[in-house]
Amino acid sequence: MSGDLAVVAKDKEASSKGTMQTQITTDPPRGTRDFPPEDMRMRTWLFDKFREVSRLFAFEEVDFPMVESEDLYTRKAGEEIVGQLYNFEDKGGRKVALRPELTPSLARLVLQKGRAQSFPLKWFAIGQCWRYERMTRGRRREHYQWNMDIIGVPGVEAEAELLSAIVTFFTKLNITSDDVGIKVSNRKVLQAVLEKYDIQPDSFAAVCVIVDKLDKLPREEIESELDKAGVPSVAIEGILQALTLQSFDDLEALIGAESGAVAELKQLFALAEGYGIQDWLRFDASVVRGLAYYTGTVFEAFDKEKKLRAICGGGRYDRLLSTYGGQDTPACGFGFGDAVIVELLKEKKLLRAFPHEVDDVVMALDDSLKIPAAGIASRLRSTGRVVELVIEKGKKMKWVFKHCETLKAKRLVLLGTTEWKEGKVLVKDLNLREQTVKTVDELIASS
Ligand code: HAM
Repeated sequence: MSGDLAVVAKDKEASSKGTMQTQITTDPPRGTRDFPPEDMRMRTWLFDKFREVSRLFAFEEVDFPMVESEDLYTRKAGEEIVGQLYNFEDKGGRKVALRPELTPSLARLVLQKGRAQSFPLKWFAIGQCWRYERMTRGRRREHYQWNMDIIGVPGVEAEAELLSAIVTFFTKLNITSDDVGIKVSNRKVLQAVLEKYDIQPDSFAAVCVIVDKLDKLPREEIESELDKAGVPSVAIEGILQALTLQSFDDLEALIGAESGAVAELKQLFALAEGYGIQDWLRFDASVVRGLAYYTGTVFEAFDKEKKLRAICGGGRYDRLLSTYGGQDTPACGFGFGDAVIVELLKEKKLLRAFPHEVDDVVMALDDSLKIPAAGIASRLRSTGRVVELVIEKGKKMKWVFKHCETLKAKRLVLLGTTEWKEGKVLVKDLNLREQTVKTVDELIASS
């Protein structure tokens, strides 16, 4: 029987027994990633930096479930994020969704814990989020987000802390203010413009969500969406004009020096000088952000070469808790994805290699010495050294040296019958290319 026929015959037999196997695709679902060891090492390094910065600012780590009740996200302002939900009915008929962001979960937890907690809360989280997005560079269907949020502080001192944390993070990655800037605005600017035109406050969130799409959609489309939302054409002109402002003088001329938005922005920029981060910030009224819940300061970090999507974004959301049935509670925070920053580090050639690093490779040259070799590996590990014990049988010296090279091992410890009779081992220092014979105690002492 030819090869192909034999396969068909086998398939027939398997299918008649109900054991037919199908070839699966080895790619992960579109827009998602595997993390093989080399990528996982980089991810761990990045997350360690997120944690390090969060701790420097005295934030505590929290986490939430990946699956939440769908109604936590189904806001009605026309946000893109709602249409991108990975939602389904669970086996109990509950409508649930994979979290597209962490802020609603955080708000839920704050509500659940109630007023008994001592505010302010300074919490950070690192979690995977799911959005059924159109994929572009740095945008995918799952991403990890680092969030820092402050609950219970109404003043822009909170925003200043968050912006300083973001800059601290960039600095730790050797990214400078020549590479990255942070655009800052305040939704109260738009609110003041809407008030000027007597537009109902309840259309505020929807207007913000629409104008946030200005850099993605043609202007006529934005105008027509605003029109559909009931905004009169004279106001549309005024809103779009206000979004072009980039100086406080122009802003004051438009909404008045006594306006709350002007005062908050000026205070935030003054605080930024105190932190020494003013070079990173610029006022830019075009930043509105696409999430409905922001009520005040909004900000987004961008690469100055304008090659990438937003690196991180956040703002103040003082009314999110009341939309969930709680009391209005001042809150602000940011989300910082793991994808765009890696693209930026690659662009700037700031991403180092993340090799698998091992201190010692231990190997018995004879099968009879496997047991003492295991003992030596354990003693070395107890001193904190990273030890690869060769557990495969019959490996040749050539293979071992190659293996040491791949692992970037610093030492090779060999147990040979002659030396072991005297309780000694052969130690090769792979950096200095020196070989010594040591007792086990000497080996441990030199580790
Ligand atoms: P966001 O702007 O939707 O805000 O996302 C924050 C950051 O997450 C983005 O700037 C980007 O770095 C990353 N990100 C978002 N979507 C994707 C995606 N599809 N692929 C890769 N990265 C992505 C929020 O999510 C708010 N909840 C942030 C926040 C926290 N506001 C207050 N506290």
